[in-house]
Amino acid sequence: MTSTVRQIDVALGERAYQVSIGSGVRHLLPEVVAGTGARRAVVVSARPPEWTVDPGVPWLLVPARDGEAHKTLETVGELCRQFARFELTRSDVVVSCGGGTTTDMVGLAAAMFHRGVPVIHLPTTLLAQVDASVGGKTAVNLPEGKNLVGAYWQPLAVLCDVDYLRTLPPREWTNGYGEIARCHFIGGGDLRGLDVTAQIAASVSRKAAIVAADERDAGLRHILNYGHTLGHAIERATGYTWRHGETVAVGTVFAGRLAGALGRIAPPRVREHVEVVRHYGLPEALPTGVDVAQLISLMRLDKKATTGGLAFVLDGPRGPELVPDVDERAVRDVLDGMPRAELPAESGATGQQDRAVQGR
Ligand code: GLY
Repeated sequence: MTSTVRQIDVALGERAYQVSIGSGVRHLLPEVVAGTGARRAVVVSARPPEWTVDPGVPWLLVPARDGEAHKTLETVGELCRQFARFELTRSDVVVSCGGGTTTDMVGLAAAMFHRGVPVIHLPTTLLAQVDASVGGKTAVNLPEGKNLVGAYWQPLAVLCDVDYLRTLPPREWTNGYGEIARCHFIGGGDLRGLDVTAQIAASVSRKAAIVAADERDAGLRHILNYGHTLGHAIERATGYTWRHGETVAVGTVFAGRLAGALGRIAPPRVREHVEVVRHYGLPEALPTGVDVAQLISLMRLDKKATTGGLAFVLDGPRGPELVPDVDERAVRDVLDGMPRAELPAESGATGQQDRAVQGR
């Protein structure tokens, strides 16, 4: 392991934990498991067997598959049955190894089995390292919508091994950089020009502070969803062919334009949204063929819009905040004024990938 391991505390009292970020940190797993006193472990992995780490106690390796299509109650039920057949107890431990969809569903299975078994995440994608694995949100999808069934279940530890990122395809980099770009507008600072380990550490650090202040998403945590209201609508409208981070990038540009149209921010700040998104090689245009009326109906279903109106996290004089009951005409005008593009090319964010590998 290199000496550049960064450790970030998620300060949640008795549920506090550390996120370790760096090359080789997956090898900390046996030490972390030993600290729990677990007798056995189930490692659920969406990656090749050689990517998983022996947890240092008798263990069962359960293969899983990343992807929204697999993030279902049926998969969680199957995982729980595997835990039961292995006779996992509440004092044992579950380990996830995979992308954000895997950490989401394994986290939920751990939250539900025996009403809660400790879980440790080994996120293997940039998206999972900067966002999904940290903060204790676990969920699966229903045919009716994304992340509709879930629980808050904080992990015991998160080991973000940047070595895993070496094998990521270009669109997986784009997926993660969508969330890193969003960080720029929620108090994460300007992360352009940093190496990927520093970018992950800064994103996690910002998220850890927000989660520590508002674990259950009652207020401040909403700002993590900057760019996500439109992002989620695009994901649904494109049948998840556009990746989460790609849609968050477009949603971030939209959030800047909407905040500008509502007089909340000045034109240079609106332009900054485009500049940041472009810097990371992310898409900024709406998908061709997706209807503005459909996007607006989908955004009305967003969980932040409690009254059936349109609610967005928008920048403004006090920084980003949830703005409820935004006038539909303003939203429609901004959407109508956005450029259109086909599905992002597979080559997105390649420059970042090269920089990331060199940067370590
Ligand atoms: N990904 C948003 C949150 O964790 O609250």
